[in-house]
Amino acid sequence: MAIPIVLDHNSPQSLQGQIFEQLRHLILGGKLKPGTPIPASRVLAEQLGISRNTVLLVYDRLMAEGYLQARKAIGTYVNLELPETSLAATRRIATAVPAQGEAIRQPDIPFIGQKQTRGNTRHLDFDFFPDRTDLDLFPQKIWRRFINRTFASSSTHFTECGDPGGLLQLREVVADHLGVARGISVTPDQVIITAGSQEGLNLASRLLIKDGTLVATENPCYEGAALLFQSYYAKLAPVPVDESGLDVEQLPKEGVTLLYLTPSHQYPLGFTLPIERRLKLLDWAQRCGAYIIEDDYDSDFRYRGSPLTALMGLDDYGCVMYLGTFSKSMGAGLRLGYLVVPKTLIHATRSAKALLNNGHSWLDQITMAEFIRSGAYGNHLRRMRHVYCKRRDALIEALRQHFGAVELSGVESGLHLAWHLPEGYPSAPELQELALQHGVGVYAIGAGTAYDYGQSRYSARTLILGFASLNEYQIRAGIRRIADVFASIPST
Ligand SMILES: Cc1ncc(COP(=O)(O)O)c(C=O)c1O
Repeated sequence: MAIPIVLDHNSPQSLQGQIFEQLRHLILGGKLKPGTPIPASRVLAEQLGISRNTVLLVYDRLMAEGYLQARKAIGTYVNLELPETSLAATRRIATAVPAQGEAIRQPDIPFIGQKQTRGNTRHLDFDFFPDRTDLDLFPQKIWRRFINRTFASSSTHFTECGDPGGLLQLREVVADHLGVARGISVTPDQVIITAGSQEGLNLASRLLIKDGTLVATENPCYEGAALLFQSYYAKLAPVPVDESGLDVEQLPKEGVTLLYLTPSHQYPLGFTLPIERRLKLLDWAQRCGAYIIEDDYDSDFRYRGSPLTALMGLDDYGCVMYLGTFSKSMGAGLRLGYLVVPKTLIHATRSAKALLNNGHSWLDQITMAEFIRSGAYGNHLRRMRHVYCKRRDALIEALRQHFGAVELSGVESGLHLAWHLPEGYPSAPELQELALQHGVGVYAIGAGTAYDYGQSRYSARTLILGFASLNEYQIRAGIRRIADVFASIPST
């Protein structure tokens, strides 16, 4: 660790005095915390370009005054118990207030973002949190094998920045996968590898949004998108959702630059946008001169029938950007996803990505590319689909067993479903609170990872239940617990 000491060779103060003062300041100011190792005298002398003796004398003095401590065979540390006099000085530093009129005014931070909800830190007996997959299903062994194999061929990949748009091998397999699985015909240079779809959303926002830009979203929609657009000072236009997804007729007629939506499995309600609405939507976008972001976050998990062709696969105008992620199929911790852009946006998006971080980690990309190319990803997906389908079935069965003919949406695909509560039941927020008191997590719209503008017809009477991270036994037990809670309410 290099210690930030700057020497002034023209100063009347000796070098020894300068080093002493600066080290003492770093310790008292809390920048070098008790227990922090201090570089060996030889190392600090080399860093500062001075004689080792000078540093040794400083260390001796700091030790004598109780700031440093030396331990045999370990080295020199900031003293764990700073002397009372130094603590008093620390307190003086911490409580020092600028005299009146001297206050330093720091610039306002233009950023207005709010952190989105990812994961749930509460420990519950049964948590139906929608944004969680099962750690036990991550293909650890095989993933480790692929990492080891690719490590051996690393050569310069760790020391050079790669293509900011992403590793070609990965972009190629993603483009192939999209052709087969989603009916999207794209070239690898249209694919930008990102840190999850959240980074893809950021890139798209960077390209398209400025202060006051009108951005339309579904209502309710994905929180990560709504909060992000707000942080770019977009003006949000909520568009209602019904049983067929976004109500295209209610889109603003003009002025919209960007529409964000989840057509395959509306987030959070799970509805699928039918083909007629998809085509109308594309016409609307062309008329309005708007771009569309299609977030296809969980389309790998379809349990019945064939998936509808993605919007981007139907787009002849070049107005759709497609977001994909490995967060559901592999795990959100990988932070691996992709943004697919129309040809006209390739250059701008790659430039924005280069400015943002010069591209994604090579090891993750090559491992994922090899994992897909070898067929292991296909096998993994089939296995996951099978497991999650059984969990979904267990959830539907348990709900029916305890609550009768329940009204559900979003059951044909994805990793969560929506339960629309009948009249006579407590409201969704009340039920959420009751379940929580009994160690079960179920989520009203806007309480999980969704964003509710407030006037949605689903706000009060819909609960979201994720089923990916609980096994079938836990799912049944969790729903039974909610039913017991329910039965104990006098009016129900
Ligand atoms: C609607 C939606 N989009 C995208 C994602 C994934 O985000 P990321 O790829 O950044 O992990 C999620 C969460 O899992 C989601 O619910």
